[in-house]
Amino acid sequence: MAERGQWQGIARILRFAKRHWLLIAMTLGATAAATAGDAAYLALMLPFVNAARKVWHGEGPVAQSGLAVGQLKTIGLYALALAPVMGAAFFLRDYLQGRVTWRLVVDLRNAICRALMPQSLSYFEDRRSGDLMSRITNDVGRAQGVFSQLFGGIPEGLSYLVMGVTVAALTNWKLLIVSAVAVPLVVLPIGYLSRRIRRFGRQGLEKLADLTDLMSQMFSGIRVIKAFKMEDAETQEFENVNRRYMGKMMKMVAAQGLSVGTIEFVGRGFLALGIIVGAWYLARKGPTVDLAAELGPLAVFIGGNYFAFVGVRKFIKGYSQLQESIPATDRILELIEQEPSLRDAPDAVALPRVERGIAFDRVSFGYDDETVLRDVSFQLRKGATVAVVGRSGAGKSTLVALIARFYDVGSGSVTIDGVDVRRITRESLLDRLAIVTQQTFLFNRSIADNIRYGRRDATQAEVEQAARAANIHDFIVSQPEGYDALCGEYGAKLSGGQRQRIAIARAILKNADILILDEAMAGLDAESESLVREALANLMRARTTLVITHDLLTIQNADRILVLRDGRLVGQGTHAELIAQGGEYRTLYAFEFGGSPPDGK
Ligand SMILES: Nc1ncnc2c1ncn2[C@@H]1O[C@H](COP(=O)(O)OP(=O)(O)OP(=O)(O)O)[C@@H](O)[C@H]1O
Ligand SMILES: [Mg+2]
Repeated sequence: MAERGQWQGIARILRFAKRHWLLIAMTLGATAAATAGDAAYLALMLPFVNAARKVWHGEGPVAQSGLAVGQLKTIGLYALALAPVMGAAFFLRDYLQGRVTWRLVVDLRNAICRALMPQSLSYFEDRRSGDLMSRITNDVGRAQGVFSQLFGGIPEGLSYLVMGVTVAALTNWKLLIVSAVAVPLVVLPIGYLSRRIRRFGRQGLEKLADLTDLMSQMFSGIRVIKAFKMEDAETQEFENVNRRYMGKMMKMVAAQGLSVGTIEFVGRGFLALGIIVGAWYLARKGPTVDLAAELGPLAVFIGGNYFAFVGVRKFIKGYSQLQESIPATDRILELIEQEPSLRDAPDAVALPRVERGIAFDRVSFGYDDETVLRDVSFQLRKGATVAVVGRSGAGKSTLVALIARFYDVGSGSVTIDGVDVRRITRESLLDRLAIVTQQTFLFNRSIADNIRYGRRDATQAEVEQAARAANIHDFIVSQPEGYDALCGEYGAKLSGGQRQRIAIARAILKNADILILDEAMAGLDAESESLVREALANLMRARTTLVITHDLLTIQNADRILVLRDGRLVGQGTHAELIAQGGEYRTLYAFEFGGSPPDGK
């Protein structure tokens, strides 16, 4: 994957953080104040050494040396007064740095969720949920490093550097120039190492996403793993991916270690050099040198240099952690900054109710390159029931998905009341539809909550009424926790048929104009099937219904039957008409719906 420049990455993060500018400004202020306090202690060294020198040498009259002792005391009092200020400044620095970091981490997670939810179904189908999960957990965790460095370590380091250089320059600017030679010796290797840290940081995150994906698949597929005794194979695979993850991380860690080593080597070397040059400077002045007068400034100079060194060290450490975290923010911002793939057209209209019905006009559609539906045209008038039949893979569920606009048609149009679904606001479109999908999905919440997913404001009585209609009420109340019982992940604590009936109750509760049932009765036993069929028949009577089913009775009761074969509509009519026509419907009738075998062929 192409690597983004670091500046671009940092600029994007700063744009994101912009709204908290006041908090950030306060954080930087507290950081500077804390460093200034530290520098003030260092600066107190100079009068301290001077005064101490006078006391030591007993220079001048006794009164003066007494004065010097007084000065020492004053300096001590200054230092004492600084103590609470420093305490407050350091507290504020750390607290505000933490606050700004957490604020942004929470913002990032919210922003990801907000950016992901409006994406189309195919967006999620084309991605691995583990990768998305990894970005929202692992990557955001890593991005925390960007914030804590950007608003913590790096300004801290810079402020120490500035203070150190200032103190050193004020005491001996000539010596400072010597130290400046160190700059390129640090910058060049660090620049090279930073690129490596970024690269391996990104690759590490990708491996971590693989790992998360593997884990989420392992847990959701645990039944299959157990059934096929694949525990060892899965564990092996997990360990392999984990090892590759470690490989990338170790390369990154090595580059980070090297950059810390480089700064220690160069920094310490130059501190030593400063001492040597200082000694040489003193020696050059010869025996006349007033050692006591020179020593104070020299000590402060070295202290300043040390400060600068500490600053650079903090800076480089922060910088290298920043390099590690930038790929994470890149991957997160990639998600946040993308446009939703399904958006209402600017001239989209709301559909308050369905007056006439649905029409497909020469609709063709394919998920990828392969066409799944070809030239499908039919009408579903208000109040009528249309049954869609066809073999597995014929495109029945796809047809339904186009009505709900889970996908957009390739060519042709799907219209409701003559309005193209692409011009109806998604919200009002989905409000008009109640869908029981082929794969029922229940959330790991209470049964009541799952039914109420159809209509959030429904009362308990309404929920129960819907459950009764779906023939699931008796089962629910037979449970110790009744409607409050949890469904388990994906509804794992319920049988397939129970899940199905809860999904039906959910659709019944929604009470929408158009009802879409995709194999809603599969997975039911004969008895509940007839009960649910009855419930659905009641429901369908008042509604515009599209039902995909193999259930002969439901098919026969439909006003019209559509026969799909390989994505084409190969027959349309009532049961009697289609039987008379023969062809695909007759074959289906014989082998799928349990009708009598076709005579003659
Ligand atoms: N999300 C998808 N991405 C890519 N291809 C898909 C997707 N969903 C279905 N297909 C393909 O589209 C074709 C039609 O699938 P569809 O689910 O509409 O069949 P169906 O008639 O509902 O079958 P069944 O009776 O088995 O449910 C199949 O060949 C399938 O492989
Ligand atoms: Mg299907």
